[in-house]
Amino acid sequence: VVETSGGGSYPVRIGAGVLESLPMMLEERVRSRHLAVIADDRVAGLHAGRVMTLLEGSGHRVDLYTFPEGEASKSRKEWARLTDAILEGGMGRDGCLIALGGGVTGDLVGFVAATFMRGIPVVQIPTSLVAMIDSSVGGKTGIDLPGGKNLAGAFHPPRFVLIDPELAATLPPEERAQGLMEALKHGAILDRSYFDLLRADAKDLLDGEVAPTVRAVRRSVDLKADVVGQDEREAGIRQILNFGHTLGHALEAESGYRLPHGTAVARGMVLEARLGERLGVTRPATADRIAAAVRDFGIDPTVEPLGRDEVDRILRHTERDKKVRDGATRYVLIEEIGVASPADGWSRVVGSREVEAVLSFPGGETV
Ligand SMILES: NC(=O)c1ccc[n+]([C@@H]2O[C@H](COP(=O)([O-])OP(=O)(O)OC[C@H]3O[C@@H](n4cnc5c(N)ncnc54)[C@H](O)[C@@H]3O)[C@@H](O)[C@H]2O)c1
Ligand SMILES: [Zn+2]
Repeated sequence: VVETSGGGSYPVRIGAGVLESLPMMLEERVRSRHLAVIADDRVAGLHAGRVMTLLEGSGHRVDLYTFPEGEASKSRKEWARLTDAILEGGMGRDGCLIALGGGVTGDLVGFVAATFMRGIPVVQIPTSLVAMIDSSVGGKTGIDLPGGKNLAGAFHPPRFVLIDPELAATLPPEERAQGLMEALKHGAILDRSYFDLLRADAKDLLDGEVAPTVRAVRRSVDLKADVVGQDEREAGIRQILNFGHTLGHALEAESGYRLPHGTAVARGMVLEARLGERLGVTRPATADRIAAAVRDFGIDPTVEPLGRDEVDRILRHTERDKKVRDGATRYVLIEEIGVASPADGWSRVVGSREVEAVLSFPGGETV
């Protein structure tokens, strides 16, 4: 159960086969007769049939809407098209949207639900590991603008979340590894034994074995839900979920978004751990341990030493980040694996000189 700042809460059901409980959960938590399942075209082809059959079998009126797969669909254009389409399809205030898919679908459909007639219920059924481990819980929804990712959005908590790892069986291993980087992040900021468990299970997790996947998703959702429940609006402790993301987002942007998010965050975590080591906040050798864990998942954590111009561009990206407050870039630092540093309200301003040093010598050499 995830608490929301409005004093409400929503359940998150996790387990192999929980998809079957969708009609019952709708009955309990939503009571709309008119439903719209929205999925990208790939996920629709793989999984929408089963969901539609479940819902039609339980006497719902249900329509299916699809959109092209990929981040490019998290756009004003797709938001507008879907909004028009559900209106045309007779959706009203008493309807409910079902977001079936990865993080793109959850964010986009969540935002359509948040804004349609000032807000209608949404149910999240994540199908990618990114969405199961991270994006389906927490209530953040939104779309990208030409000026940057996730720049228009709303907090719109779902009525409930159903996480059935069997849906992820069709996910390619590289996509799996991407989502697992956020799980490593949860371990790195909150739970050392979880971090170690993920490393031990790395191969099985990449192979898509159900038991370790359920275990990891449960632990990640528990950890994230606890943090979000304390601070839904990211005024305090929720910021620790941004570990690795200040530099990660900058690397992603600098690559023209060719670098996948998980890989960018993995490298960001290593760099931000080095930054912490430099500042005497993070225990020595922590960055190397994170790098080794990232390698366990087949992702290359190394960042080549950057030249003057690249460093400047990265710094400029960090200055444009949403996490900037009062004109200063803030970083979440960890004290060691499993312990985020609470100092300065869970994130702190770090001088650009220090960041520059880490980017110029990302292997940790100091001159
Ligand atoms: N709201 C939040 O708190 C939050 C947190 C993290 C990430 N996000 C957002 O999530 C997005 C990334 O999520 P993502 O990586 O899931 O992207 P995605 O939704 O584009 O999914 C990645 C790819 O996997 C495919 N896919 C999904 N499930 C599948 C399955 N079961 N079988 C086969 N293929 C499947 C999709 O069609 C897509 O091609 C980004 O837009 C990011 O901003 C949001
Ligand atoms: Zn992330």
